[in-house]
Amino acid sequence: MKLNDKTAGGATTGSGAPAASDRNSLTLGADGPVLLHDVHFLEQMAHFNREKVIERQPHAKGSGAFGVFETTADVSRYTRAALFQPGAKTEMLARFSTVAGEQGSPDTWRDVRGFSLKFYTTEGNYDLVGNNTPVFFVRDPMKFPHFIRSQKRLPDSGLRDNHMQWDFWTHNPESAHQVTYLMGERGLPRNWRHMNGYGSHTYMWINAAGEKFWVKYHFHTRQGMAFFSNAEAAAMAGADADHHRRDLFEAIARGDFPSWQLSVQVMPYGDAKSYRFNPFDLTKTWSHKDYPLIPVGLMTLNRNPENFFAQIEQAAFSPGNTVPGIGLSPDKMLLGRAFAYNDAQRNRIGANFHQLPVNQPKVPVNTYMFDGPMAYHHSGAAPVYASNSGERPWSDATGPAPDGWEADGAMVRSAYTLHEEDDDFGQAGTLVRQVFNDAQRAALVDQVAGSLLGGVRSPVLERAFDYWKNVDADVGRRIEQKVREGRAGKPAEGMGEG
Ligand code: HEM
Repeated sequence: MKLNDKTAGGATTGSGAPAASDRNSLTLGADGPVLLHDVHFLEQMAHFNREKVIERQPHAKGSGAFGVFETTADVSRYTRAALFQPGAKTEMLARFSTVAGEQGSPDTWRDVRGFSLKFYTTEGNYDLVGNNTPVFFVRDPMKFPHFIRSQKRLPDSGLRDNHMQWDFWTHNPESAHQVTYLMGERGLPRNWRHMNGYGSHTYMWINAAGEKFWVKYHFHTRQGMAFFSNAEAAAMAGADADHHRRDLFEAIARGDFPSWQLSVQVMPYGDAKSYRFNPFDLTKTWSHKDYPLIPVGLMTLNRNPENFFAQIEQAAFSPGNTVPGIGLSPDKMLLGRAFAYNDAQRNRIGANFHQLPVNQPKVPVNTYMFDGPMAYHHSGAAPVYASNSGERPWSDATGPAPDGWEADGAMVRSAYTLHEEDDDFGQAGTLVRQVFNDAQRAALVDQVAGSLLGGVRSPVLERAFDYWKNVDADVGRRIEQKVREGRAGKPAEGMGEG
């Protein structure tokens, strides 16, 4: 019976009995008071009050689609993960998002874009939760909540604030590389189909012989990268705040399936100690000359969600969800994230979020996470403890972890060990001078100056000039000049000029 088919009997209550009316509540006489025993009416009202879950903090605004990942090359000498064996086809889910905006915010505000993937592999779910840039703003997870708060809203007015953003960035100069990406074209992708995705962190791959490698993931859009200008993005924010969500849904609905080529950079395990950049520092990339791209496979999105809430809003991705043959790395950010996501989802969706169909693995689950709100899958009368007398298997590995690494030393609170070429500004400078062309550099100057003119005050403003001069002397000088010109004729707002 179709529940929405009036001729087949109409709607039901939550308990499955026929619902009397979805249009008229039960009243005492046509004009009389509503009666408390109209259970169907009360159920509708009460459930309505509970029909949202807490929005993600951060990455609240987004959408996604299902698809397939096909391994087209042979990378079995680097990983034994089933999904990356030649010819393997794995069902998957992707979710794209902005970072700072809330659920209803425009898709085209300048921001980094999230690029979350869930692969339903034959060895359990593997999640890769990255962005459309290969680096990040900070390199210690302790800074993450502070960073996100500085990009969101002021405590008093509830407004977003350039001053607060630049205050954080200039206090944390390791942000320069990512801020350069953000202030460049990548900050305004035309849509999600036309942007690249990156795992960003360094991960570990382990082959069948137990050999370990360090890897970085690159998903290159086969649609080509495309961007909005500031003017186009601003117009679109007003005309259609859901432009990116709509674009993906409509493309897939018309059979125009977007695809991405996955390649990886692979670093031999032993190189990590002496590589010129600390390979676990998330604010750095690895030179493609040192570690060239190795093709792996193709990701294609080909199926829209049938229900946005059930399949996208309640989707739960975590960088901690790995499978055999793939591990984490000493990247402190990644280790912090391995805790944060599932904890967010226990809070946001509920302790049994992993039992929802979109999050459920396609393989049998034998977990000793027991009961809790909304428990659906259960282990019947089997023992709920391990070890037990043999009725129910439990795990019992001892010895070195196959995806582990060596560490030694006293407990400290400290920045990473610097490698030969490590500093905060070097790679940002390379991006500006060697990757950007003249037009892109000019756009960067305009964008940063415009942002600084949007209410950034002393002493943050002077720090921002220094920040950019450290990235590139010429670009920094041009930004300062443009800001000073922009301020000319207006009262000098905290520029150290009185
Ligand atoms: C220590 C650093 C970080 C912490 C503590 C953190 C924490 C979080 C949390 C709590 C969420 C919401 C999860 C949910 O409610 O389901 C989230 C979402 C997200 N984060 Fe992070 N994050 C960190 C760094 C990063 C980095 C470095 C990246 C990218 C390279 C990233 C990409 C994302 C994406 C794409 C989402 C959206 C996930 C989705 O689509 O559901 N985050 N983050």
